[in-house]
Amino acid sequence: MTANVIVSGSLRNRLAIILTGGAALLALVLYLVVRALAAQVAQQGQDNILSASMSSVLDTAVIRDGRVMLDFPYSSFSMLNTQADDRVFYAIYEGETLLSGYDWLVVPDDLAPENTLFETTTINGDHLRVATGSRVLIGSDGPRNVSVSIAQTQDALSNTLNGISRNVAFLGLGFFLMSSALAIWAASTTSGQMRRLTTSVTRRGPQDLSPVTKAVPSEMAPLVGSLNTFMSRLDHTLTQSEDFIAEAAHRIRTPLATVRSHAEATLQRVDREDNRKSLQAMVRAIDESSRTAGQLLDHAMVTFRAENLEMSQVDLVELLQELVLGMTPVAEMKDITITMKVEGPATLLGDAILLQNALRNLIDNALKYAPAETRLLVEVSRSPTLSVSVYDEGQGFAPDEIETLSGRFVRGKNMGNKVGSGLGLTIAQEVAVAHGGKLILSNRPEGGACVTLFF
Ligand SMILES: Nc1ncnc2c1ncn2[C@@H]1O[C@H](COP(=O)(O)OP(=O)(O)OP(=O)(O)O)[C@@H](O)[C@H]1O
Ligand SMILES: [Mg+2]
Repeated sequence: MTANVIVSGSLRNRLAIILTGGAALLALVLYLVVRALAAQVAQQGQDNILSASMSSVLDTAVIRDGRVMLDFPYSSFSMLNTQADDRVFYAIYEGETLLSGYDWLVVPDDLAPENTLFETTTINGDHLRVATGSRVLIGSDGPRNVSVSIAQTQDALSNTLNGISRNVAFLGLGFFLMSSALAIWAASTTSGQMRRLTTSVTRRGPQDLSPVTKAVPSEMAPLVGSLNTFMSRLDHTLTQSEDFIAEAAHRIRTPLATVRSHAEATLQRVDREDNRKSLQAMVRAIDESSRTAGQLLDHAMVTFRAENLEMSQVDLVELLQELVLGMTPVAEMKDITITMKVEGPATLLGDAILLQNALRNLIDNALKYAPAETRLLVEVSRSPTLSVSVYDEGQGFAPDEIETLSGRFVRGKNMGNKVGSGLGLTIAQEVAVAHGGKLILSNRPEGGACVTLFF
């Protein structure tokens, strides 16, 4: 079906790959975005608790007896309890001096009073989130800057994040699988439309040039429109050629027949030998022209119809009987008896006009090349395959010519002065090939030619 067509991949596969690839990309983006949002929300939660804890400690700062004093309310640490038992660290500074806690927790330089600063740092392989705030206390000796840092490990946070990531990954995978299924379905549906159109066009017979009337998607409408225009033009051209062939045959043969009858009539009336010879040569030339014109037109018709066979069930026996009956007058002139040998009913799915033309040429040759008072046998055989053979009792084919005689305009050495154009066997062979068969020429052992048309 795709012979002589250059194929560049499959639309369905291309569509499916693009849609599935898009779905995979979207699933990945969904995963990354949801995970980043979840991390942000979780971090916000930890920051809020750290900030509340730090503020509750900072709020207790007072100056007593000239010294900065701080208290640790119970709630300030209890609110930091997590399921993962995250560890908590703290540091309290007055200015640059550590009052209590861990000295590796350093107050950031850019900390402004009454502000809370959050930082993530790694100490001994532990990820820590640190909230630092500061307050200015007014003492008798002037303002004093107190800062409090509370740090907490992030085990619970990363557990939560891992859980969320896992769920989002499943969500992304589900999204991808569903989108892929939809993509494949969409690709099949789209290509299905084209497949239906292709089937409806390829299923029709070779003669069916009617327009495609099936509803098609709008994207395919221009293609189908062009196809319909093309088919209607082809149909028109074919009909015109067929009419032209018939018309041309008629127009050429009729005047030639008229000229011939005039020449024959004149020949009867003329006595002078040289005039008679000229008229005879004229009649012969007319016969040659008429024959060649007829054979050329038949050949054109065969070539045209072979592309466009008009198939029907053809009864070969009936067809041959009609042909033999039509050619009996010619046979009688040469005292040739035509016999038919038939094994049984023989029908064939074929183009009756072409078959008739081919068989007429075979019988015509036998009558033309076999001598008078001989017998001609037309045999229809059904085994091994359906075939029609025409046997005569003439001199047969020259063995060195047998391969070439079915070529165009090729005539044999034995043509003598017989009128012909060298197209009869060409026509018969083309008809055989159009019906999936072949034409075989051979010589009979007892003498004479045998031409068989196999189907
Ligand atoms: N039955 C036959 N016996 C002997 N020779 C034959 C026979 N049939 C065909 N030939 C040879 O084959 C040649 C080609 O035959 P073909 O029918 O193609 O052309 P043609 O008979 O010469 O011309 P036309 O086209 O008018 O039939 C003939 O010229 C003839 O030499
Ligand atoms: Mg012939």
